[in-house]
Amino acid sequence: MPIISLIAAMSENRAIGLNNALPWEPIPADWDNLKKVTEGKKMIMGRKSYDNPHRIWSEVGNYVITRQHDYEVESGFEVVSSLEEAIEKCADQTEVFVLGGEEIFRLAIPLADKLYLTLVHETFTGDTFFPTFDESEFDVIERKEFKAGENTPYAISILTYRRKSLN
Ligand SMILES: NC(=O)c1ccc[n+]([C@@H]2O[C@H](COP(=O)([O-])OP(=O)(O)OC[C@H]3O[C@@H](n4cnc5c(N)ncnc54)[C@H](OP(=O)(O)O)[C@@H]3O)[C@@H](O)[C@H]2O)c1
Repeated sequence: MPIISLIAAMSENRAIGLNNALPWEPIPADWDNLKKVTEGKKMIMGRKSYDNPHRIWSEVGNYVITRQHDYEVESGFEVVSSLEEAIEKCADQTEVFVLGGEEIFRLAIPLADKLYLTLVHETFTGDTFFPTFDESEFDVIERKEFKAGENTPYAISILTYRRKSLN
């Protein structure tokens, strides 16, 4: 089975989205990090995140989770009816990325081996939030700090969490 990784950016009040978009201005340093860590890896996303005009996708394969039976997706994407089905389809991969949004993060956190979390050090109005999770189950194995102006309009921290029970 692949390593199951979640990747997300959240504000100090855990906001991740507003009106099916990000709550903040583009953060190039975060985007660069996302491109680097997800390169060559398949991605799994909820139907609402797929519906986002600024959606993120992988060149090597993408799964869209929906309860709709007749949902049609563009080429390069495949519809699945559950997170587990998407993970099974990635059985031959070394690592797969769960992109969100909130509903899918809630399902994925119990299965996550790694979390790549960008903390945006501001408070934003949001309508979707990154769920709280038991941080004691994870080690922070990497932490990168960027000050506002360092390729980001806001101060951010990029943290990598690794589940303690992961061999
Ligand atoms: N900051 C970040 O890192 C980040 C990352 C990703 C997304 N976002 C933001 O998050 C927001 C979207 O999050 P969201 O929670 O509203 O939506 P979402 O998680 O992207 O998608 C929710 C959809 O997934 C499907 N779904 C959920 N649970 C399911 C289950 N158990 N079985 C089958 N299908 C299931 C349903 O699709 P159907 O309704 O089609 O059945 C549901 O409407 C947007 O604002 C986006 O910009 C932020």
